[in-house]
Amino acid sequence: MSEYPNTIILPQTNQLVSLYSIIRDVNTRRGDFVFYSDRIIRLLVEEGLNQLPVEPHTVKTSTGISYEGSRFVGKICGVSIIRAGESMEQGLRECCRSVRIGKILIQRDEETALPKLFYVKFPEDIAERYVLLLDPMLATGGSAIMAAQVLLDNGVKEEKILFLNLLASPEGIKAFYEKFPKIKIITGGVDQGLDANRYIVPGLGDFGDRYYCI
Ligand code: PRP
Ligand code: URA
Repeated sequence: MSEYPNTIILPQTNQLVSLYSIIRDVNTRRGDFVFYSDRIIRLLVEEGLNQLPVEPHTVKTSTGISYEGSRFVGKICGVSIIRAGESMEQGLRECCRSVRIGKILIQRDEETALPKLFYVKFPEDIAERYVLLLDPMLATGGSAIMAAQVLLDNGVKEEKILFLNLLASPEGIKAFYEKFPKIKIITGGVDQGLDANRYIVPGLGDFGDRYYCI
């Protein structure tokens, strides 16, 4: 999406499209929905980690020869938007052992689709960290914008936030970019748009319900 240089879309490989075809299918039951969503989440986390800065780092291998490699610079943490965003925590933990995780409870009002903030708990040194913001769905953008604003209010720099997202609408990406042009969005796909209930279409329905309840 050249209009939105902040947005990185995962390569639409045969594998990725097949994973999405499973989780989008209305007949997919919860066990498979969770399993295949988790596989996509893992890919998003790996791409998020690719975006972090590194510095040169040379090691000596067991052959006695030096290898000129690199290592991560800086500290990270995850912040999940409860409830659906919590589904992405495990994928992050699998890649980053003992990673700190903050939480924000934001819920979309079912009538108006407007977000409401209920609860915030962050690692106390969050302002010094890169933050991987976790929420699978970017629909109107209201929830993600509210969460990003809370991070900024807690001292996190815009350029140190990476928003990991399974599925986005063009409307959500535009709204988010207009507010926070320096925050990178890493998404697995951008759909056609929103329906009258401000759900993503074709989409996959209510992610939180399908992952946790149905
Ligand atoms: C969903 C989703 C996002 C939000 C996206 O959460 O996980 O947080 O909606 O919509 P928006 O871009 O229009 O704000 P929801 O509030 O339904 O709660 P849930 O996590 O409990 O499912
Ligand atoms: N929340 C979801 O879970 N799905 C959508 O399509 C929009 C918001």
